[in-house]
Amino acid sequence: MLNSISLESTYIARTPQSAAFEARGLASLPITSSRGISFHPPYPVTVARAEGPFLHDIDGNRYIDLGSNFFSMIHGYAFRPVIEAVTAQLERGSVWSANNAPQVDLAEQIVARVPSVERVLFNNSGTEAFNLAINICRGATGRYKFLMAEGGYHGSMYDTSLGSKGLAGPSHFVAPYGTDAFVAAIRAHGPELAGVFVEGIMGSGGFAEAEAGFFDKVKAACAAVGAVFVLDEVISLRVSDGGYQKLMGIDPDLTMMGKIIGGGFPIGGVGGKRALMDLTNPTRGTVLASGTFSGNPLSMVAGGVSMRHLGQAEIDRIGGWAARIEAAIKHKAAAIGLPVWTRRVGSLVSWFFFDPGPGCVFGATRPDLEMVKRHHMAMLVSGLFPTPRAALATSTAMSDPVVEEIIARFGASLDALLADPATETRI
Ligand SMILES: Cc1ncc(COP(=O)(O)O)c(C=O)c1O
Repeated sequence: MLNSISLESTYIARTPQSAAFEARGLASLPITSSRGISFHPPYPVTVARAEGPFLHDIDGNRYIDLGSNFFSMIHGYAFRPVIEAVTAQLERGSVWSANNAPQVDLAEQIVARVPSVERVLFNNSGTEAFNLAINICRGATGRYKFLMAEGGYHGSMYDTSLGSKGLAGPSHFVAPYGTDAFVAAIRAHGPELAGVFVEGIMGSGGFAEAEAGFFDKVKAACAAVGAVFVLDEVISLRVSDGGYQKLMGIDPDLTMMGKIIGGGFPIGGVGGKRALMDLTNPTRGTVLASGTFSGNPLSMVAGGVSMRHLGQAEIDRIGGWAARIEAAIKHKAAAIGLPVWTRRVGSLVSWFFFDPGPGCVFGATRPDLEMVKRHHMAMLVSGLFPTPRAALATSTAMSDPVVEEIIARFGASLDALLADPATETRI
């Protein structure tokens, strides 16, 4: 057990080549990983290769991946069916400016699976999906502003990342997620609202869920003021074969998608009611949907294969593993006297060193942030690779033995956290 050396020094001792690579990167990049959200002090490791449920860094350390590249790699890394389909597609060309068959195949699968989606259009990221969705809302209503939840996240557009800090911006209002105040804000700002954006499950809010009935109220208020109701399923699509909306009976006007529908390749998508989506049809509508790499055959073929291998049986299996991991976290924490709370929706699990209650959303700030950071280090030195913000996702690349190994290593990370001198003074 790690008790005399701090977790960060242990991490640094294990990862000298990653430290050197971080320093080299900073001479030409402002963030070596290119992604602010992936950064954590002192530096993220540099991954040399990823396979199945495992990541291997350039210092030779192996990690079981629990982050799934922020919940996107639902079949793990180097998934054989995707490799084969993408390799065959590469031989036929990677992108052109005309129709391609894999795009229609992926669209057909999504329309068949996701209940509210009658038409769907693809681009390259969830952020681009937001951009397209807001443009459709503006085209449909002739209005400009939108409403989103405090602490919500819809991508790294300037306005939406302000929202993730709980701030209103020049083109949007914010209101508390899952509350009557949110519904009241739709009515209050109605005449200015093009769209209302809500996540099914609040990703950066630690997988918070609204109470039953919230989404019906949002839908009714949107209809009353003539605003478009947009459900962001970029993360939550993985919780059933038709997403969170199928599980909860939500009927949005538009749905934002991304992450798992690309099979590990860059992707975003907006789907929804035909009349709204048709605004992007160049012969009828006024909303330009475009992008040099939108609908490129590589992402489409990877997404198509990946979705085909993801039925409800697979979703139930990875949900069962997540339930086992959640139960084991609680059991271990109770056994060593460390106060830990958890939340789980399907294959998504988050944990807290304070009681978040059912609906608490905290965005970029949380009262247990220091503990979360130290526990993140403890997990890394215990051979696990979660997201830096106390959240994990299971994948179909796992197996019963891998899940047992996760449980053992997670337990070791809680032991290491408890043994860390900095922790003892805080609990
Ligand atoms: C709910 C939600 N919406 C949108 C996005 C943006 O997706 P991307 O990172 O692909 O731009 C994310 C990314 O994490 C997300 O979690």
